[in-house]
Amino acid sequence: MKRKVTKAIFPVAGLGTRFLPATKSIPKEIMTLVDRPLIQYAIDEARAAGIKEFIFVTSRGKGALEDYFDHAPILESALRKKKKHDLLNTLKSTNMDSGEIAYIRQHRALGLGHAVWCARRLISNEPFAVILPDDVIAAERPCLQQMTEAYAETGGCMVAAMEVPADAASSYGVLDVKEDMGSMVSVKGMVEKPAAGTAPSNLAVIGRYILTPDVLRNLNRIKAGTGGEIQLTDAIAQEIESGRGVYGYRFRGQRFDCGSKAGFLQATVAFGLARPELREEFARYLQAMASLPHAAQ
Ligand code: G1P
Repeated sequence: MKRKVTKAIFPVAGLGTRFLPATKSIPKEIMTLVDRPLIQYAIDEARAAGIKEFIFVTSRGKGALEDYFDHAPILESALRKKKKHDLLNTLKSTNMDSGEIAYIRQHRALGLGHAVWCARRLISNEPFAVILPDDVIAAERPCLQQMTEAYAETGGCMVAAMEVPADAASSYGVLDVKEDMGSMVSVKGMVEKPAAGTAPSNLAVIGRYILTPDVLRNLNRIKAGTGGEIQLTDAIAQEIESGRGVYGYRFRGQRFDCGSKAGFLQATVAFGLARPELREEFARYLQAMASLPHAAQ
């Protein structure tokens, strides 16, 4: 019987240098789309998929993340006194119960695979999810939920997958497809950031994974790969070599690369327009801006 996936790892140790100077004092995961930090989108998606334990792999300077998930009694009582019940509920929806959340430090920046490996003792012998909060996915059914449902049929390892332009493949982990079954593909190989012109397909890995504990054992052994880092992609690819199933899942939804400025701005526009209370005014503004492209310079 396949076990339910109840734990998720959130690798959040990165320095976020692409967003300097902002990330000099705030973790990039706290940067906000409309009024919610990136990390809140990731947590909400995980909860919708049935995740009960949230494991953050952090680093120095990420204290604001821990504060964000803490209860805020002074703020709560101020809102209660002012009878601002809507805001109070919004605030409470971000609280984490004691024991629901754990923080592990990645002491050295040795790559995504290493970050996941740092959480190994909190996973034990069960499947787990990994969510990269930089990849924000707008979807009617949250992406990880789509994946856990598909995983109930397949077992093995599953990665979110998306077609990307051929010239962008070298920015991603890329799947070598064995069999294409539509929303699902079985995988016969995986390459992390292939050199230009060498990608086995244009089906890229997006930051949602359901992994078996075997991947953690592989991470114990593997050597540094692309960029001199311990790559999660390589540890998953080893599962294929060991004869175990690895699947790509073409999720339904729109992915924003919030690790890049352009992606972050696109997400801000999309999530802003999705808010009923903002849509009309914002759309009017965007239309006016489109005819005045240099207005903010
Ligand atoms: C990471 C993974 C890569 C994946 C990407 C998705 O790369 O290593 O396989 O395709 O996330 O966003 P990063 O973007 O952190 O360099």
